[in-house]
Amino acid sequence: MNRPDPKTYYLKTFGCQMNVYDSERMAEALARDGYRETTELDAADLVILNTCHIREKAAEKVYSDLGRIRDIKGAREKTGKSTVIAVAGCVAQAEGAEITTRQPAVDLVVGPQSYHRLPELITRATRERASIVETEFPGDEKFERMKAPRRVSSPSAFLTVQEGCDKFCTFCVVPYTRGAEFSRPVAKIEDEARELVRAGAKEIVLLGQNVNAYHGEGKGGRAASLADLIAQLARIDGIERIRYMTSHPRDMRDDLIAAHAEVPQLMPFLHLPVQAGSDRVLAKMNRKHTAAEYVDLISRIRKARPDIALSSDFIVGFPGETEQDAEDTISLIKAVGFAQAFSFKYSQRPGTPAAGHGEQVDEGIKSERLQRLQAVLDEQQVSFNARSLGGVVPVLFERKGREPHEFVGRSPYLQLVHAAGSGDLVGQTVNVAVNETRRSSLSGVIEAA
Ligand code: 5AD
Ligand code: SF4
Repeated sequence: MNRPDPKTYYLKTFGCQMNVYDSERMAEALARDGYRETTELDAADLVILNTCHIREKAAEKVYSDLGRIRDIKGAREKTGKSTVIAVAGCVAQAEGAEITTRQPAVDLVVGPQSYHRLPELITRATRERASIVETEFPGDEKFERMKAPRRVSSPSAFLTVQEGCDKFCTFCVVPYTRGAEFSRPVAKIEDEARELVRAGAKEIVLLGQNVNAYHGEGKGGRAASLADLIAQLARIDGIERIRYMTSHPRDMRDDLIAAHAEVPQLMPFLHLPVQAGSDRVLAKMNRKHTAAEYVDLISRIRKARPDIALSSDFIVGFPGETEQDAEDTISLIKAVGFAQAFSFKYSQRPGTPAAGHGEQVDEGIKSERLQRLQAVLDEQQVSFNARSLGGVVPVLFERKGREPHEFVGRSPYLQLVHAAGSGDLVGQTVNVAVNETRRSSLSGVIEAA
């Protein structure tokens, strides 16, 4: 049975910024092939879920969505319309054909390294009745072969420079779902950054699962560090701001720390996950550093850039975590002082070393520890933001706000800032006098030019 080519797509993205970047690239490739985006599920000929496998909750959400989409596919079929359901991203990579067993309505399973083959796979899926599973690891091919003109939906644009991870933290699926570390060559990144600037980007956010391990091919075939890459990008006319994430403490080299003092475009913000503050837990997590080493690293970074805003990820309830371990994490938080942070209950991920650990922590204890930790982090975020009160911050406006004439942007420290203005401020960097601060945002008044 031949089905007509799908021409409208619905794309939902779960998880991290790397998935957001991949979704943007998929959307560009689909647009080039004549597809239109729709936000109505029941109007979509092609549904793509770009999924996340990092914690159980994220992965399970995909299956509940798929159930709903299967029903819509069934209803559309009754009116003579076909629907191709594709699962992309890390659940696709990790679970492969298991997905089509659990949800037979799925036509296509495609891993993150095979997105350049998406058009061809969709065509096959529309022709063949059997489900297609494509989860090879062909290395760097996708970047080379996903050449569609870059578009930007915001003045702050993501640019993936590195993928994969060789760190093998014992709780984490990334080394399995995204494979070994791979860095894109400097010249290719520069080309893409120029294209993004031409399309309207003012800020480039360099992405990688372990971005500070970046070691792409630079001038004369020599390996370039992330600091080298940043210095190179800072020379491009039109790039006003540069950020990068996510980094590992072990890869925070001196030249990158120095870049925070030397490169004006590099924003004073650093997401540097520590995960835990107990040396015992850090060792079991295979993080390869101690709490004291992290605190020392932070003081070296602050020496280079005293006003830097720090962010981290934390996991509570790692197998074997004791009350004392949980308190050690809180002590580390107090010793460092974070501007913001993400914190999660440990989630057992199939195939990772920690998942088989005998001493799993009770869910109730995890919830209690998470609350305690988040209360400290929230307090720190409130006081970090409060320090901006009465001051003036340069804000790069990214979008319109909900209120009439309201615009929303980011301070150099990644704080969300709301302000009212006339004309179109999106894409402009404007000084804002801060007159109100909350836990997760600031408000203020635009200063006369
Ligand atoms: N359980 C809970 N949190 C996890 N993370 C990674 N794996 C797990 C897991 N199994 C968190 C880490 C990481 C962030 C992206 O997600 O804190 O830095
Ligand atoms: Fe996962 Fe990050 Fe550890 Fe790599 S460094 S294994 S991505 S938590």
